[in-house]
Amino acid sequence: MKILICGKGGSGKSTVSALLARSMAGRGRKVLVIDTDESNFGLHRQLGMELPPDFMNRFGGKQAMTERLREAFRRGEAVNVFDQKWEVDSIPDDYIHTKDGVKLLAIGKIHDFGEGCACPMGALSREFLKNLELKDDEVVIVDTDAGIEHFGRGVEDGCDLIIVVVDPSYESLKLSLKIEELAVSIKRPVYFILNKIDDESRGIMLESLNQERVAGEIPSNREIFKASLEGRELDMRLDEIESLVDKLSMET
Ligand SMILES: Nc1ncnc2c1ncn2[C@@H]1O[C@H](COP(=O)(O)OP(=O)(O)OP(=O)(O)O)[C@@H](O)[C@H]1O
Ligand SMILES: [Mg+2]
Repeated sequence: MKILICGKGGSGKSTVSALLARSMAGRGRKVLVIDTDESNFGLHRQLGMELPPDFMNRFGGKQAMTERLREAFRRGEAVNVFDQKWEVDSIPDDYIHTKDGVKLLAIGKIHDFGEGCACPMGALSREFLKNLELKDDEVVIVDTDAGIEHFGRGVEDGCDLIIVVVDPSYESLKLSLKIEELAVSIKRPVYFILNKIDDESRGIMLESLNQERVAGEIPSNREIFKASLEGRELDMRLDEIESLVDKLSMET
């Protein structure tokens, strides 16, 4: 099962990715977290790790990937990065950091001024996910960049299930409805997780969303807020995450 976590900027995608990963690993699943966000540097800290080297380097770096994309575009062909399937165990150790049963892979970050757009990262994420084959006890959690550009790039093509993290804001609710529409159009199951909620915001949010798709609710939590502010590992256990994992286990 490859689970993609998406939503508005700052809604809590990385937080939910990290908490889900730790909980699933605690239950004996082999978890690979894939950081596809080219801009942010928080997820690895929330998992208590250093940032692994860009996986894109394995394919010649960003310049080489950009050239590949241009060439495919010139020829009017789909970009072809892989001629073979990948398994989690075949990812070179150099690009993986591991802690408490959770493996972390980072597709690539923007490092320098003027280095160009993030299209090559999107293409690599999409192709890698499509070509990654999982064993029964393995699960992949894909943390994405904010918004819906990854839908435009087709990253969801390689995923089995989509989770939208929704925070209490009008923009987040509207974006989540758009994501639901996109996910349904590609026939992927889609669930909402309400995050940073209180009693008042919960009621308003539930009025806007298809309630059957609400798979979890995480209240505003001081401990999460403080740990993230300090760049610390999220080592807390939340009942709300445990019941979400129970629900997902029924899907997987
Ligand atoms: N349930 C929660 N309670 C309190 N604070 C939270 C909660 N969930 C997330 N946060 C805080 O909200 C901020 C954004 O969280 P996070 O980085 O997970 O969001 P994101 O969606 O990944 O953001 P980005 O779009 O920038 O990648 C962080 O400071 C985090 O600590
Ligand atoms: Mg994030």
